[in-house]
Amino acid sequence: MKDPITVSVTGAAGQIGYSLLFRIASGAMFGPDQPVNLRLIEIEPGMKALEGVVMELDDCAFPTLNEVVPTCDLNEGFRGTNWALLVGSVPRKAGMERKDLLGINGKIFVGQGKAIAGNAASDVRTLVVGNPCNTNCLIAMNAADGVPNDRFFAMTRLDENRAKSQLAKKAGVHQNAVSNLCIWGNHSATQYPDFTNAKIDGKAVTDVISDRAWLEGEFISTVQQRGAAIIQARGASSAASAANGVVDTVKSLTNPTPAGDWTSVAVCSNGEFGIDTGLIASMPIRTSDGKSWEVVEGVEIDAFSRDRIDASVQELKEEREAVQDLMS
Ligand code: NAD
Ligand code: LMR
Repeated sequence: MKDPITVSVTGAAGQIGYSLLFRIASGAMFGPDQPVNLRLIEIEPGMKALEGVVMELDDCAFPTLNEVVPTCDLNEGFRGTNWALLVGSVPRKAGMERKDLLGINGKIFVGQGKAIAGNAASDVRTLVVGNPCNTNCLIAMNAADGVPNDRFFAMTRLDENRAKSQLAKKAGVHQNAVSNLCIWGNHSATQYPDFTNAKIDGKAVTDVISDRAWLEGEFISTVQQRGAAIIQARGASSAASAANGVVDTVKSLTNPTPAGDWTSVAVCSNGEFGIDTGLIASMPIRTSDGKSWEVVEGVEIDAFSRDRIDASVQELKEEREAVQDLMS
């Protein structure tokens, strides 16, 4: 029997939590023979709903679920954790941009970063989902003294999945045929889903989809605005697909990346691709051992891509400026 992996999830009684916890507990994240401990963190008003979620987890009798600890104490919630999944925060409503949430959500990530630094396992990795996730991740990383920067991630995998699905539909192929899709920059309306480097069945997307106007126009804006479209249609932000994005992100970071491919996740820039050092920006990364990861080198950036990446990086710089008071 393997030692359990401990996973902490904040906002565990929320919409995303309601999809995510059952995927983790069932083995979808770490595999069918890997036991998991769940440490479920909520604020006081969410504790009653969380009790119900814990009852439902019990009622599934998952073979891979070892222990469940519901708590509103951050120290207890992050104790010994290997993966901190920071979901808990307020979602935007119709008509808002994600960065409008900075004032409400940003401060949450100071206390959580500190509690991770003080309590988590020495190999802890943190994935921020709560919006605006790039800058919230920056705040948490800054507060987590002693935890290396390369253990902090913000989620753009949902955007990657959305982009792959749009390209596959347009080309009339299964989404499995789409690879090398990078989301650059911010998880926001300025993100750039890069069709210039993406491939369909190993061929350049631009050779398979001849409608360049669609690629430069409708494709990009559909991916950029997909979160807003879901809020308009559902009256609430994406939840099941977001939970799926979390599962996919963690799986990609804990298993070797297929040869020649990459995955999108926002990481702390060391100046790669001209992205300002210290920003949490999405870029192509890969891992060969499922533990350490590296930014993929040599991805070509043409003038069209450069403009779009720069615009998203500019927005990240503005967000960083807006939260200076939360950075020690
Ligand atoms: P929700 O309102 O359904 O749930 C959020 C939960 O977080 C609530 O139960 C609330 O009590 C809890 N919470 C609030 N503050 C907390 C704190 N300080 N500590 C612990 N828990 C806290 O929202 P949701 O639909 O689950 O979305 C959660 C966040 O994820 C939102 O910010 C949303 O915008 C974001 N999101 C990000 C992506 C992405 O791709 N990065 C995708 C979808 C949603
Ligand atoms: C999404 O992309 O679906 C989430 O970030 C929620 C939102 O506010 O769009």
